[in-house]
Amino acid sequence: MQSRVVQLEEGKDIVVTGGRTGLNKAFPFKLLLLLGFFLAFTVVLFFISVSTFKFYGINSVVTSVTSSFVPCHEKRNDLHKWIEPPMVLMHNMSDEELLWRASFMPKTKEFPFNRVPKIAFMFLTMGPLPLAPLWERLLKGHEKHYSVYIHSPVSSSAKFQASSVFYRRHIPSQVAEWGRMTMCDAERRLLANALLDISNEWFVLLSESCIPLFNFTTIYTYITKSKHSFMGSFDDPSPYGRGRYHGNMAPEVSIDQWRKGSQWFEVNRELAVSIVKDTLYYPKFKQFCKPACYVDEHYFPTMLTIEKPAALANRSVTWVDWSRGGAHPATFGAQDISEEFFAWVLKGDNCTYNGGYTSMCYLFARKFSPSALEPLIQIAPKILSF
Ligand SMILES: *[C@@H]1O[C@H](CO)[C@@H](O)[C@H](O)[C@H]1NC(C)=O
Ligand SMILES: *[C@@H]1O[C@H](CO)[C@@H](O)[C@H](O)[C@H]1NC(C)=O
Ligand SMILES: *[C@@H]1O[C@H](CO)[C@@H](O)[C@H](O)[C@H]1NC(C)=O
Ligand SMILES: *[C@@H]1O[C@H](CO)[C@@H](O)[C@H](O)[C@H]1NC(C)=O
Repeated sequence: MQSRVVQLEEGKDIVVTGGRTGLNKAFPFKLLLLLGFFLAFTVVLFFISVSTFKFYGINSVVTSVTSSFVPCHEKRNDLHKWIEPPMVLMHNMSDEELLWRASFMPKTKEFPFNRVPKIAFMFLTMGPLPLAPLWERLLKGHEKHYSVYIHSPVSSSAKFQASSVFYRRHIPSQVAEWGRMTMCDAERRLLANALLDISNEWFVLLSESCIPLFNFTTIYTYITKSKHSFMGSFDDPSPYGRGRYHGNMAPEVSIDQWRKGSQWFEVNRELAVSIVKDTLYYPKFKQFCKPACYVDEHYFPTMLTIEKPAALANRSVTWVDWSRGGAHPATFGAQDISEEFFAWVLKGDNCTYNGGYTSMCYLFARKFSPSALEPLIQIAPKILSF
């Protein structure tokens, strides 16, 4: 055993020294020859390049070199590198890495390219998306103006066809529980992933039970022309509002800054960045807002009211029916869908829009069960105009 090891080591040694000796002997002549060839090659190359530059101009040489020699999987080293959205949504950044990356924001207000701003529809789901066909109908044909993201603990991406607007739109997801910080984490994860596409300017949070109430053009116009973001935010003096405030949140959050609002929001890019970059309020809410303080109803409304109050409409654009009372809003199924039902939903309260009054207060509605899909598809062209 021992002798074999010695042999091997000796053999290795011999090869190495042998190599060295050979190199030493051949060094001067071989190197000179090599240098000579190299010199000749360089001179020839120089003349070729000079004549090519003269003939085609510098630009075309540069582009032809880039296009023919850079393998297509490598990033282009021009502006596109910075403005093209990720081709694959799945990544293995940690939340910390993702939120950091997503908080990048250009300081120059003008874009040096033609940016067509998009709405990011962010679906926060507990399982599959039974109402997907309705959303397909809404979105089809408007590819330039929207993008879709799905946060779902169960990966059901396989069931969407390549032609679907939901195809490969899942983002890396984790379990999210109602009323807990994991829910806000999921929402921040959605925002952060959507922020990676620089074309996304508005971000709408939706659930699997949400439906659109208007066609795409109307929704897009309403959101894009608004001077405010539709984040619900109000001061509720009751035990379900201020009653959930914890004194230890001060000084970051005082009782009169404490707000409540629906979880289903629409925010612009600036507010989305504020949310993903927040490290000031996050630990306070995580530590001091636990059930019966439902953090998903307080964290973003409170934080944004402190940081960017003038940017908020203080109302949500997602309709919901609390009239039946209880801890959960009403769910509507097949038997509920009728023209009268939508007349009721769309009847119009009185809300503000860009400083004026309007009866058009909602763009989306919840909650709808899977059985509502067929009647909804049938009624959509007449009632919802899509
Ligand atoms: C991370 O990404 C690399 C390269 O895309 C991949 O090979 C690897 O499996 C990923 N790791 C995890 C934990 O997803
Ligand atoms: C969208 O709906 C509006 C009413 O909300 C209607 O006036 C308009 O014609 C519809 N647009 C399309 C493209 O169907
Ligand atoms: C929303 O509320 C904040 C203060 O809570 C206020 O500054 C802001 O003007 C309100 N927005 C609108 C559109 O009234
Ligand atoms: C909406 O409310 C405002 C203020 O309360 C009022 O001035 C306005 O007339 C109302 N509009 C309608 C259509 O009821």
